[in-house]
Amino acid sequence: MNLADKIIKLKKEKKAVILAHNYQRQDIQNIADYVGDSIELSRKAMEEKEAEIIAFSAVDFMAESAKILNPDKKVLLPSLGARCPMAQMLTVDEIKKGKVLHPHSPLVLYVNTLASAKAYCDICCTSANAVEVIESLNAETVLFGPDRNLAEYVQKETGKTVIPIPEWGFCPTHLLFQPEDVQILKMQYPDAVVMAHPECSAEMRDVANFVGSTSQMCKYAKQCNAKTFIVATEEGLLHRLGKDNPKKQFILAYEEAVCPNMKLNTLERLYTALKEEKHVVTIPEPIAKKAKKALDRMFELKTSGN
Ligand code: 13P
Ligand code: SF4
Repeated sequence: MNLADKIIKLKKEKKAVILAHNYQRQDIQNIADYVGDSIELSRKAMEEKEAEIIAFSAVDFMAESAKILNPDKKVLLPSLGARCPMAQMLTVDEIKKGKVLHPHSPLVLYVNTLASAKAYCDICCTSANAVEVIESLNAETVLFGPDRNLAEYVQKETGKTVIPIPEWGFCPTHLLFQPEDVQILKMQYPDAVVMAHPECSAEMRDVANFVGSTSQMCKYAKQCNAKTFIVATEEGLLHRLGKDNPKKQFILAYEEAVCPNMKLNTLERLYTALKEEKHVVTIPEPIAKKAKKALDRMFELKTSGN
C-alpha cells in the first residue's frame, strides 16, 4: 500500500478529517478531504461534527483557529515547524503599544496571527473579507495587524484610516513578486489576466486585474473568460487552479514564490502525526476563549468570504 493509501486508511480508522490549505504540496492536496483558504478551512473545521481528529495541513495559526473553534477535537499539525513568519511578527507588546497610542480605535487582526494576539483584538478578518469587516465597524480609524500590505489595501478600498501594527509586518513569500517580472511575462502572454494576493506590495497590486484571497482567485479564474492567467501568490495554488480549469493556463508570476513553512508538511509527516497523534495544538483556555470571541464576531458578519 502506498503512503497516500495508508493515510486514507488511517484517517478512517481514527475518524479524522484532513484539511489542507491551498498552498500545500500537490500530494497532500490530492488526499485531503477539503482544500481551501484560511476562512473556508476554519468553517469546514466547525462543520465536521463527526470527526474526532482534525489533521490540519497548513501553518500554526490556521491549526490554532481550528482548535479555538473546535475545543473538543484533537487538532494535529503535520509539522511542528510549519509556522507563519508573518504571524510571529505581531507580539502582545506591540499590540499594547498600539492600543496606548490609539485608545479609541478598534483592533482588527488578520487571522494570520497567533491566538495570544487574537485574544486582544475586537474582530478577526481574512484576506477574503478584510474590506467588509473594516467597513462594518463604526470607526473611521482602525488598528490593523500584522500585514502592512493588506492594511494599505484595505485603507485604499474602504477610505478609512488603517494603522498597521507593527508598522513593517509582511509576508516574505508575497514580497518576492515584482511588477517587472509581470511586465516580462506580459510580453510573452499579452492576453493574460493578472491575479494577485493582497499580501503583495502596492506596486504589484497595481498591475493586477484582480486582487483577492486564494479562494477568491479560484472563483475569479472559473468565471473569467480569459485563457491565460499570471498568478501572484504561493505556487501551491496553481495545482488547484489547474485541476479546476483544465483548459486554462496558469503561470506563476515569480517561479520561486514558495512558502517554505507551508512546504514543511509532507505526506510522511502527515502520516506520522496521524499515526502517533502527535503535534497536538493546545491553547490556554483564557486565551482561546477571548480569541474565539474575535473569530465568532467575524463569522457573525456573514461577509461574502464566509
Ligand atoms: P488565504 O487567506 O488566501 O488562504 O491566505 C492565507 C495566507 O497565508 C496567505 O499567505
Ligand atoms: Fe505566512 Fe506568507 Fe506563508 Fe502565508 S505565504 S503562511 S502569510 S509566510
